[in-house]
Amino acid sequence: MWKIQASAPGKIILFGEHAVVYGRPAIAVPVSHVQATATISPGDAGTGVVLHLPDVGKRLALNDADPGSPLAHVSRLALASLDLGSPDWLVAVRSTIPLASGLGSGAATATAIVRALSQAAGKPLAPAEVSALVYESEMLFHGTPSGVDNTVIAYEQPVWFVRGQPPQPFSIARPFTVVIADTGIASPTSVTVGDVRRGWQADPARYEVLFDAVGQVVHAARRAIESGDVEALGPLMDKNHELLQAMGVSSAELDALCAAARSAGALGAKLSGGGRGGNMLGLVKVGDALMVQSGLRSAGAVRTIITSIGVERSTSETQACASLR
Ligand code: PMV
Repeated sequence: MWKIQASAPGKIILFGEHAVVYGRPAIAVPVSHVQATATISPGDAGTGVVLHLPDVGKRLALNDADPGSPLAHVSRLALASLDLGSPDWLVAVRSTIPLASGLGSGAATATAIVRALSQAAGKPLAPAEVSALVYESEMLFHGTPSGVDNTVIAYEQPVWFVRGQPPQPFSIARPFTVVIADTGIASPTSVTVGDVRRGWQADPARYEVLFDAVGQVVHAARRAIESGDVEALGPLMDKNHELLQAMGVSSAELDALCAAARSAGALGAKLSGGGRGGNMLGLVKVGDALMVQSGLRSAGAVRTIITSIGVERSTSETQACASLR
């Protein structure tokens, strides 16, 4: 029996979430320690494409799946753009990326499916094409996505992202290490994005000032990353976190993990992604990573990842295996 498998990484936003929905830049990087995988094998005759999602105990037959289902939607779009018709295929989708936690689980799952379908069709798609298809499913997941998640995951490299523009890869002069920690609280991005929108509609002047301030932080972070001034990134993360607090998207749990990371030696810390729950990250000196990881665990983190940004992928993946707890 033939099988075709493709995968996609998770992601973290280093700087700029929420303001990126309003045209300010963001910096995001893939996180290959967590992955979504789609495996295609022959299905029963006459069933068409069936998505099997054992992690959430669901089966979606594309012939009759709800049009509002993001994964059914992106699969239909991919089948059409690859001229595949309706083959009898079973697509098993697994993911180690926690749901609704700011690590890009929706975009990664959709990317894995699109990549697997394009491989099965023998028509490899460019990252820009994958990203554009996945963006369509993000619209169903999020409502008004900026496009940062589908972009960083489909391109699988650190990106400087501005809504509506092609992503700009940028150079990382000196690798740096972050510890990512999960509050364990699922928080759908659509809710926090909706709340920020309501805040902005009620008081546009205040929110525009906050978004501009985030934009300045993101520009300063890019300069620091490109010049290898890693230490400067810590205070910039703290500042970005304060601005996200002012937007109302932090939470007691995220604030507690950020404080724990700083007191265990992190150079700076912030929430990452939609907020209210999900993950935060702390910038650390390599030698302090385990100490900060342990401080975060004592403060209630349910899972931590230590990742190096700006190193060759194979090295990073070797570290990933060692550091994922
Ligand atoms: O999917 P999340 O939780 O990482 O959030 C994506 C980042 C936001 O800026 C909050 C939303 C967006 O579409 O950019």
